[in-house]
Amino acid sequence: MTKLGIALVLIAPLAQAADIDAGKAKAASVCAACHGANGVSVSDTIPNLAAQRAGYIEAQLKAFKEGLRRAQTPTSPAATMSAIAAQLGADDMANVAAYFASLPGAERGAKSAQLANVAKTHVAFPEGYKESFVRYHTINFPGAKQVRQYYANKPALQAAKEGRPIPDGTVILVEVHAAKLDASNTPVAGADGFYVPEKLVGYTAMATGKDWGKDFPEMLRNGEWNYAVFTPDKQHRPGVNQAECLGCHKPLDKESYLFTLKQLAAASR
Ligand code: HEC
Ligand code: HEC
Repeated sequence: MTKLGIALVLIAPLAQAADIDAGKAKAASVCAACHGANGVSVSDTIPNLAAQRAGYIEAQLKAFKEGLRRAQTPTSPAATMSAIAAQLGADDMANVAAYFASLPGAERGAKSAQLANVAKTHVAFPEGYKESFVRYHTINFPGAKQVRQYYANKPALQAAKEGRPIPDGTVILVEVHAAKLDASNTPVAGADGFYVPEKLVGYTAMATGKDWGKDFPEMLRNGEWNYAVFTPDKQHRPGVNQAECLGCHKPLDKESYLFTLKQLAAASR
């Protein structure tokens, strides 16, 4: 055998072929919630992956994980994908890339149905929250010309105060308001610096209950939190994909999955 021949024999076992079946299993449990089990995504804001080139998929996953492709703001969609890629090893990336690349491309306009486990939420609208909840925070959103007001119930405040994990029965509710605009379409701020709310456009909510997280895959699960979005008349907004909420809040596992835990703790003192 030539020297080159020996070198090839030694190197060959390192360059293992991707495992399409393993990729398929990971895709079915995690990626499917957004990209569809067959790589045809569930919404217009999520790209199809079916028939995409394996090298490209792998490179994007790596870029998300390493921060080369990252969110412009904490609420842009890439934040969710970075949180997911952070949980994938090099083998996982190669396997899911090989799996999606092996699929036939999507029909024009095709969309996958939402997975039942992420479509279903236990969160009910907390009637009477104005009386029993504490308003603990406010944020202006200049881009959206909105002001959001954050409310929490007693168990949330008590746990934040004591630095304990959030118990079952916790509810966080956010009122989303369109801001009052001046003649040049700029939000008008009150004396406290916050935009003056003009019109309630809806609510976002998260709440915990016993075993509420058990139907989500570990890569998306936020403890026992479930999420919901409500219309101004307190009805569930249809079509909410909890996978998106879970995916973006997932990296905050040390903060009880709350972006505003600090403010919650401060308000409870
Ligand atoms: C919670 C929803 C969600 C889940 C789950 C999810 N993704 Fe994504 N993915 C997105 C969104 C949203 C984008 C678009 C990100 C952006 O705008 O930069 C995206 C983008 C991507 C891209 C880039 C595609 C392109 O055209 O550039 C790849 C590759 C990808 N996802 C792979 C995966 C894989 C593999 C999994 C499973 C391990 C997965 N995603 C799970 C929501 C999700
Ligand atoms: C791409 C990232 C991202 C996604 C997706 C996302 N959130 Fe959030 N969420 C945030 C950020 C950042 C904050 C803190 C400031 C704010 O309100 O935007 C937040 C705050 C919240 C809060 C207030 C409690 C807290 O964590 O501070 C609630 C309630 C909430 N989100 C609900 C939802 C729901 C419901 C969904 C899904 C429909 C969702 N979020 C999807 C990023 C995200």
